[in-house]
Amino acid sequence: MRRVVLLCLLACLAVVVACGPKQQKRHVGDIRMKKNDNEADAIAFLERYNTESSRLLNKGIILDWAYNTNITDANAEASTAASLELQAFSLASFNEALEFDSTNFSEDTQRQLKSVGAKQLPEAEQQTLSEVLTLLRGIFTNILCIEMHVQIILRQILSNMSRIYGSGQVCWEDGQCSVLEGTEDSLSTLFATSTDEPKLRYAWEQWRTNVGRPMKPYYEQYVELKNQLAVIRNYTDYGHEMRSRYEIDDFELSMEEIYNTTLPYYLELHAYVRRKLYDTYGPEVVDLEGPIPAHLLGDMWGRFWNNIYNLTEPYPGLQSVDPTPQMVAQGYTPERMFRQGDAFYQSMGLKAVPDTFYELSMIEKPQDGREVVCHPTAWDFFDGQDYRIKMCTVVSFDDFLVIHHEMGHIQYFMQYSDLPTVYRDGANDGFHEAIGELMSMAVSTPKHLETIGLIDEVVENPDLDINFLLKTSFGSLSTLPFHYVMDLWRWRAFRGEYPDNQWNDEFWKLKESLVGVKAPVERTPEDLDPPALFHISGDYDMMRYFTRTILQFQFFESLCEASGHQGPIYKCDFSGSTAAGDRLAALLRMGRSKPWPDALEELTGQREMDVNPLLNYFAPLYNWLQTENKRLNNKIGWKPSNSFA
Ligand SMILES: *[C@@H]1O[C@H](CO)[C@@H](O)[C@H](O)[C@H]1NC(C)=O
Ligand SMILES: *[C@@H]1O[C@H](CO)[C@@H](O)[C@H](O)[C@H]1NC(C)=O
Ligand SMILES: *[C@@H]1O[C@H](CO)[C@@H](O)[C@H](O)[C@H]1NC(C)=O
Ligand SMILES: *[C@@H]1O[C@H](CO)[C@@H](O)[C@H](O)[C@H]1NC(C)=O
Ligand SMILES: *[C@@H]1O[C@H](CO)[C@@H](O)[C@H](O)[C@H]1NC(C)=O
Ligand SMILES: *[C@@H]1O[C@H](CO)[C@@H](O)[C@H](O)[C@H]1NC(C)=O
Ligand SMILES: [Zn+2]
Repeated sequence: MRRVVLLCLLACLAVVVACGPKQQKRHVGDIRMKKNDNEADAIAFLERYNTESSRLLNKGIILDWAYNTNITDANAEASTAASLELQAFSLASFNEALEFDSTNFSEDTQRQLKSVGAKQLPEAEQQTLSEVLTLLRGIFTNILCIEMHVQIILRQILSNMSRIYGSGQVCWEDGQCSVLEGTEDSLSTLFATSTDEPKLRYAWEQWRTNVGRPMKPYYEQYVELKNQLAVIRNYTDYGHEMRSRYEIDDFELSMEEIYNTTLPYYLELHAYVRRKLYDTYGPEVVDLEGPIPAHLLGDMWGRFWNNIYNLTEPYPGLQSVDPTPQMVAQGYTPERMFRQGDAFYQSMGLKAVPDTFYELSMIEKPQDGREVVCHPTAWDFFDGQDYRIKMCTVVSFDDFLVIHHEMGHIQYFMQYSDLPTVYRDGANDGFHEAIGELMSMAVSTPKHLETIGLIDEVVENPDLDINFLLKTSFGSLSTLPFHYVMDLWRWRAFRGEYPDNQWNDEFWKLKESLVGVKAPVERTPEDLDPPALFHISGDYDMMRYFTRTILQFQFFESLCEASGHQGPIYKCDFSGSTAAGDRLAALLRMGRSKPWPDALEELTGQREMDVNPLLNYFAPLYNWLQTENKRLNNKIGWKPSNSFA
């Protein structure tokens, strides 16, 4: 380890020394350089770039896949080397793109130039330094050296955080330790199934002590370095860069507005859930007028509330909203679940996955002793024919829905595969996430379950509708404040708004005031809780989940309309409707070639994100919650907490 650090310092120093003098001359936006304003040159450059980047992406993704489905040192090294090669190419291309003055170029050329260099492989394991040095000598002689210097350190910091996260565990009094997921005694299983409050509280605290705390110095450096890179790329800070991907003028204000508009619905849901948790855990743990303690919501972070549906079911004893037992009884297998997912898309006239999909995907946890990354993901190999999903499927309805979600990504990949590489992406990140969720909404309807033989008959019962809507809200409506606050906190951190050592305090202030959730145990200045969530230490934005939740209901409404659906929107199942499929395909085919409002307009006729479809969908639940909360005299909202459970 120590040798690696020393080498790194030398390497970084070497870069800075070797190209130090050029730095000032080559700053972005430097007007002393005469730029190329010949559009034909730019188009030729873009053609070269698109071809070469899809070649490198394909090569890198093949190796990355090999690593993810077979974790060995050799596979990690191979994948890292490819990732570095791509990163080097991206960086060089990004700088080459800056040499054009695109003022008078067509809109499309301008848009493509702006997207050059954005594609990177996911963070692989730490690279060996000799590889870095070789690459540096070969490729980086004439581009921004400072940027590469920052990139190298940043990669190590991200890799260090990922190692801490991946090896994080909680050890119990008897000496046994639990990892986060993938085992029977995992922490995820604990949070999903246990109501042993002291145990949950202990796990909650220990996870943050063992994961968040050691990450703190890295996370602070990460923020600083990300900001430096953002400034080189002409953003005020990294939060600005993250927001700019959404192409909305005042993104922060728009998101705040969405939060505000959906808040009354969230408040009713919150009050109802808090009462149910109070019934389960008692007044010692849950204050009926305070924020909800964060460890009682069914996962390590209080992100998705699906797992507490049991504790909160409005009308127990009715037809189950989860047909897992039927699936098991009917002998469902993972392959059958995938083929049925594929059939769902085809029934709408959308594309079938290629045969190679079934040959090459990993749809079950391998039994040959290989270590794999189980987290479900969908993969585009950028060659227009190879698409795969990696998932350790179990036969359950939840996984059936996950399959429809992942297949939504695959459908998107296939639909935009004809576009230049720079455009092979979602209109924004929320779009990519929304497609599969939208399909899952149709799949969960009783009508669809009857069609595929998972329930005997559709029972018409308003109480059952309320059960169904509450279940649906736990993966959508209830997540809005959570996702909003994660990024709001980061935007402020990147802007440098927090005094030293108050980052965590500020986080909990936001959590309490905007989410109505509090830490169950006292936090100290040594703690840093946000990176104890995968997406924060892993450098993924959360607004994709916030925006997708709004978008998925907008899309849903339009597809239901196209399919000729009558009656309450939450009963809509548009499977089998090619009219709906055509509308969706038109959006998917656009990829990222136009600003996202154009893609949205293609499907919905609107150019803005609109919360009304979501609010309409949940209106019956909202009315029911209002009545129920009044009946039980539940306080709406919360007063500040000053105690810990
Ligand atoms: C950098 O940002 C400023 C302000 O937004 C803008 O005026 C300028 O054109 C940008 N420069 C480049 C090279 O993009
Ligand atoms: C896993 O990767 C190693 C190389 O590190 C290779 O030798 C082995 O055959 C791979 N296993 C499978 C099942 O692909
Ligand atoms: C763009 O076009 C305008 C008007 O024709 C011209 O004045 C300007 O010099 C051109 N700019 C570049 C960079 O070619
Ligand atoms: C990454 O972690 C190692 C081992 O703990 C440490 O020696 C190294 O300094 C860290 N890297 C950076 C860039 O902080
Ligand atoms: C959201 O609501 C808060 C509190 O009522 C208010 O201060 C803020 O201006 C609102 N923001 C927007 C964008 O409407
Ligand atoms: C929740 O449901 C699961 C399976 O559906 C069951 O095993 C468990 O006992 C239930 N828990 C509670 C608290 O009702
Ligand atoms: Zn997804």
